[in-house]
Amino acid sequence: MVERWSPESWRQRPAKQMPVYADLPHLTAVEETLTRFPPLVFAGEARSLKANLGKVAEGEAFLLQGGDCAESFAEFHPDKIRDTFRVLLQMAVVLTFGGGLPVVKLGRMAGQFAKPRSSDMETVDGVELPSYRGDIINGFDFLAEDRAPNPDRMVQAYNQSAATLNLLRAFAQGGYADLHKVHQWNLGFVAKTPQAERYHGLANRIDEAVQFMAACGVNAETTPQIRETEFYTSHEALLLPYEQALTRQDSTTGDMYGVSAHLLWIGDRTRQLDGAHVEFLRGVKNPIGLKCGPSLEAEDLIRLIDTLNPDNEPGRLTLIARMGADKVEKHLPALVRTVEQEGRTVVWACDPMHGNTIKSASGYKTRPFERILDEVSRFFDVHRAEGSHPGGVHFEMTGEEVTECTGGAQAITDDGLSLRYHTACDPRLNASQALELAFLVAERLKEDRDRANGHRRAAAAAE
Ligand code: PEP
Ligand code: CO
Repeated sequence: MVERWSPESWRQRPAKQMPVYADLPHLTAVEETLTRFPPLVFAGEARSLKANLGKVAEGEAFLLQGGDCAESFAEFHPDKIRDTFRVLLQMAVVLTFGGGLPVVKLGRMAGQFAKPRSSDMETVDGVELPSYRGDIINGFDFLAEDRAPNPDRMVQAYNQSAATLNLLRAFAQGGYADLHKVHQWNLGFVAKTPQAERYHGLANRIDEAVQFMAACGVNAETTPQIRETEFYTSHEALLLPYEQALTRQDSTTGDMYGVSAHLLWIGDRTRQLDGAHVEFLRGVKNPIGLKCGPSLEAEDLIRLIDTLNPDNEPGRLTLIARMGADKVEKHLPALVRTVEQEGRTVVWACDPMHGNTIKSASGYKTRPFERILDEVSRFFDVHRAEGSHPGGVHFEMTGEEVTECTGGAQAITDDGLSLRYHTACDPRLNASQALELAFLVAERLKEDRDRANGHRRAAAAAE
């Protein structure tokens, strides 16, 4: 018997990773304020993202999800939003060409504020304070007044999300996303990268394709798709009082939607079947994500799928595997195989960031570019072996030239990390590293596509 869901039914379940607010009447007052605020996204948009993800699930599209590990109040600036959006577009063009498939663009933006932490408390020089949990919950500085969870931060996070989304919508629709422009930026990147040779071929072929389209009369004036793009937002639905306050009933269908972002996901630390996060997300009709780490067993995954997507609706559920490069082969095949055998339709995406975090010799949390790439290619290998669709990638990245992950064509070293290490949480790929990764993933997509086309041609010739 499935129990009745309501926006607050999660409150009856054990909730991990939730802050303890000292002033409960204050919390309630903020929740009430938020329930009166306008939705950030509309149900119809969430439905169109779900339909696009349904195409990914069926192998007819590819998902690119990326953005900050954690957005922050201090780093809030239009140029940062523009730069991350710009790199995502650049990556999407490269991936579209490589895979020969439409790319669904999904930002970890406009709401990615709450962070799960490995311990509740942090001790520095004998002083113990609550851990930093993201700007929507408390402050980063190691001071008692900053670290105390403050409900007012939810209002500030909402406002920042609204302003961010407003700018993203303008960029997506206002001509900034013009394919010709994005392609020119990519040529610029290829020209300055130390591995220009390697990327030239792909960039030149895209150039030819763009020129060919223009010659055929497909241009920004005749074809809106050249000038505009669809861009969606997502974040981890960790802070449930906030998410509940931003749940609305859709007037056309009567269904409940989370209106803080188009897609909401459940983190690897909060995916307990009887837990509050699974309970909340099972009831909203948005497309949702589920992080799948190495401790997830196949039978538990099936139970989670059946709870989160009982009607087996394509596009409803994206499984984001985040194993660690050295654990992919051990853990992913069983999950993919079971999902296939049980006939569950999901999107499989690869988050090659969260299983590959290490501490550098200089003491920084970092991620080696090579390990990130390695996890992506092992993810592709598993899907090739299982005959399933490697549906997408999920990156922590930024449009700035930060130095947080080592390696890549710029060959950032351990010693170089201190130069521009700005993240509010986990280390991100910088703009060059992110784009380079897109080129490498596109090569792999192209290789798999050529192989599939080869099989098709061989089959046709044999007929
Ligand atoms: C994240 O995506 O920032 C995160 C915390 O991931 P995970 O839940 O996979 O650890
Ligand atoms: Co992270």
